[in-house]
Amino acid sequence: MSYEVKHEGLNQWVREVAEMCQPDDIYWCDGTQEEYDRYMEEMVASGAATPLTKRPNSYLFRSDPSDVARVENRTYISTTRQEDAGPTNNWISPDELKPIMRELYKGCMKGRTMYVIPFSMGPIGSPISKIGIEITDSPYVVCNMHIMTRVGTKVIETLGTDGEFTPCLHSLGAPLAEGEEDVTWPCAPIEQKYIAHFPEENLIWSYGSGYGGNALLGKKCFALRIASVQAKREGWMAEHMLILRLKSPEGKQYHIAAAFPSASGKTNLAMVQPTIPGWEAETIGDDIAWMKIGPDGRLYAINPESGFFGVAPGTSYDSNPMAMETVKENSIFTNCALTDDGDVWWEEIDDNPPPDHLIDWTGKDWTPESDTPAAHPNARFTAPAAQCPIIAPDWEDPAGIPIDIFVFGGRRTQLVPLLFEGFDWEHGVLVGATASSETTAANIGAVGTVRRDPFAMTPFCGYNMGDYFQHWLDMGESLGDKAPRIFYVNWFRRDENGRFIWPGFGENVRALKWMCDRLDGRVGARETPIGLLPEIDDLDLNGLDISRETMEELLHVDVEGWKAEMPGIVEYMERFGDRLPDGIRKELDAMQKRLG
Ligand code: OXD
Ligand code: MN
Repeated sequence: MSYEVKHEGLNQWVREVAEMCQPDDIYWCDGTQEEYDRYMEEMVASGAATPLTKRPNSYLFRSDPSDVARVENRTYISTTRQEDAGPTNNWISPDELKPIMRELYKGCMKGRTMYVIPFSMGPIGSPISKIGIEITDSPYVVCNMHIMTRVGTKVIETLGTDGEFTPCLHSLGAPLAEGEEDVTWPCAPIEQKYIAHFPEENLIWSYGSGYGGNALLGKKCFALRIASVQAKREGWMAEHMLILRLKSPEGKQYHIAAAFPSASGKTNLAMVQPTIPGWEAETIGDDIAWMKIGPDGRLYAINPESGFFGVAPGTSYDSNPMAMETVKENSIFTNCALTDDGDVWWEEIDDNPPPDHLIDWTGKDWTPESDTPAAHPNARFTAPAAQCPIIAPDWEDPAGIPIDIFVFGGRRTQLVPLLFEGFDWEHGVLVGATASSETTAANIGAVGTVRRDPFAMTPFCGYNMGDYFQHWLDMGESLGDKAPRIFYVNWFRRDENGRFIWPGFGENVRALKWMCDRLDGRVGARETPIGLLPEIDDLDLNGLDISRETMEELLHVDVEGWKAEMPGIVEYMERFGDRLPDGIRKELDAMQKRLG
């Protein structure tokens, strides 16, 4: 071991895991650049990583074609009682699941090194931060964790002899027999994959996948599923939200936390380039917010991560120039295509025709005539947040930043207006709870594809979603008049030809500006059955080429359409039975009445 660990509980857990998994070696990570470089070199030598000549210190990985995304149907919340996991989670009892997984873990690291990664979610020493220890047999995970979290000996020092940490056990599930040659992306078959959470003991066990949220356990597993349970217990919030600072021409700052489902433009909004002259944006986080009530009674947020794990396809100098700048160097690319001159490529990276020849994400030759995408649709970049040109200078402030505005949203081609505000906190909670989205492939007329995704937390809430709604109501009680205002947006309305009618991207700041104006009392709002809508003339549309007719369409409240939407909402809510808070029932009834 390269440093001394005085935490007996940690040492004992590592010993137990080693006994069960039987690695060839144990290595404690120190988080240094030297360590990162060493593992990258090893992975280049083994053929797992391809160095990119066009991007300094950057590498491309190709996963096994069976291991390309989070596996929601193999993700479990394992509580003693099923009702504590609730109807939106897969559930197995710990008594049943643990023996199955122990059997899989037995000898699973044979022929491999077991890495122990001490990491902090949030700046080390912040009252909002928490410590995890990930054990993994994947050097790819080690390098990604270096970027996505704060790894190092300082974490071990902070833990001391008895500090609290969340044990996160990960294995690829691919032991090597004597002399067996390794593959470039080891993993286990789908029926052996388990992404398991034991919230009653703050424990994570992941087996069989090396990809993203299945394997980088600080992210969805710890910072959302386990942390959401801790947050409920301890009176704070762990949310699937970006964090953004907007600055007005007068220099006033507004802090926004916004929740959207996966792959709905969170990273784009987090790095937005405002199109209204004089307005500026700064990024604080693009995926997760941890928020605690501060000494002044306001809600303070930190980004628990230190990197971005963004979807590559669709990212371009048009859609997200700041992300393009962020990934210029020191980045890991997974399942992107490779150009002949040693750069990465993905669909929609620019307007130009694609190169004549690429190596696609499966390692095969690709030409524009190929009928499969060159990059996997869930290809990702892993990049240090500090490299984002508009990262807020104080993004690592241990105290966090005070949130003024919550925004919820989803993709709806019809019905849901561009923008509205909740009447008050309780109604805002209903608005978040009834958030919904259509799959990206959904088109006009394809009714029935709407998926309810409360607070964009469906895959990430570590407990009964009904109790989670109650937690939101309780937080409102605690925050009182210091609570952030709650808004809802829908950037994804389409016309009868399937074309988007709102330009999106940087123009979305026009909606955010209205929210700031509402906060400061500069504008009024139109009361409708679903919430408070902007008057068109109160929106700053200067320089935007959009007709009044389109704006009317975008801000129209279709009462009959909403009436037709209600039975689906009620049916969804009834799934929670007696776990559905009275506060939500009350708001639902009120909404039904308003609709008439
Ligand atoms: C993500 C996701 O990777 O939400 O952030 O899937
Ligand atoms: Mn996410």
